[in-house]
Amino acid sequence: MATTITSTIKLPSGFEIPRLGFGVSIPSNIISPIVALIQVSIKVYKTYETPPPQPPPHTGTPMERCCLEALKAGYRHIDSAAIYKNEAGCGNAIRGSQIPREQIFFTSKVINISYDGAKAQIDESLALSKLNYIDLMLLHQPRGGSENRKGAWLALVEAVEAGKIRSIGVSNYGVHHLNELEAYISKLETERGGKGRGGIISINQVELHPWLGRKDIAEWCTARGVFLEAYCPIVRGARFDEPSVKKLADKYGKTPAQVLIRWSLDKGFIPLPKSVTPDRIVANADVFDFNLTGEEVRALETEEYSPVAWDPTVTRLDE
Ligand SMILES: NC(=O)c1ccc[n+]([C@@H]2O[C@H](COP(=O)([O-])OP(=O)(O)OC[C@H]3O[C@@H](n4cnc5c(N)ncnc54)[C@H](OP(=O)(O)O)[C@@H]3O)[C@@H](O)[C@H]2O)c1
Repeated sequence: MATTITSTIKLPSGFEIPRLGFGVSIPSNIISPIVALIQVSIKVYKTYETPPPQPPPHTGTPMERCCLEALKAGYRHIDSAAIYKNEAGCGNAIRGSQIPREQIFFTSKVINISYDGAKAQIDESLALSKLNYIDLMLLHQPRGGSENRKGAWLALVEAVEAGKIRSIGVSNYGVHHLNELEAYISKLETERGGKGRGGIISINQVELHPWLGRKDIAEWCTARGVFLEAYCPIVRGARFDEPSVKKLADKYGKTPAQVLIRWSLDKGFIPLPKSVTPDRIVANADVFDFNLTGEEVRALETEEYSPVAWDPTVTRLDE
């Protein structure tokens, strides 16, 4: 059966995730509190930022409106995070869409990497979004040191057991972080009563596109059935003029953005394109009427290491 915007795949947790997600981030450099402070204080919003929630009147925050546009366009998967400060708007949009809750997949991410930090943030995400469960909660990045990473994972495991979260995973984990987590899961299984009691890694969300193939991480995840979510799938527009992309765009009568999203889908990734522009939100989802051949998928790939966002996958284990 042909894949459509509502097609799903089954995660290792047993829950289904829609193949295409809608990203709602502010740019990752804003994660630096200093940059955030400067940007907020001078109230400069670059065109690629998803506007943060606005004060009343309650005609819907900009974020809420973007999510509603996306849900109207057929997306059923929203990728948020505590640090994006828009979980409340996402929750409003999910409710306001009138689409049954179980048909929408909502992701958030924990930025406070410690047991107590993650535990508190999970409850805060639930309170802000006013959702009675979160479909997928990720550890946003590995920084914090070994004990804190393990503690944060245990908080996710307990939240699954408490019914607050359905699936769990990580983001920006390199192979060394994944190996550490795998060993910790085995230890938890021994201590807590067997298979599954250490938690199941369903997702690793990393920057992925033809100029950042991350072969080592992809191989680790694929070998274990962990799905890869691709952030910056359209490289923030930086590669639209590449001849290899333009050639395929011409061949299929598609835009460069659509070719890159299709590449991600054809690689088996779950792409999370972000836009605050209504016609781009619609266009980025119009990728289910063509496929790249295996040869075309390979032809787009490069050996480059060219991230356009931060890259915490290279963080040392003791950082
Ligand atoms: N886990 C992490 O650490 C992490 C880090 C970064 C991102 N993410 C996730 O991944 C999502 C996507 O990443 P991203 O926003 O950094 O990169 P992206 O999706 O590759 O690019 C978004 C940028 O491209 C523009 N754009 C969107 N559609 C377009 C089109 N059809 N034609 C031309 N330009 C277009 C957007 O502008 P407009 O919005 O102005 O239309 C925006 O500036 C985020 O929203 C977030 O959910 C996660």
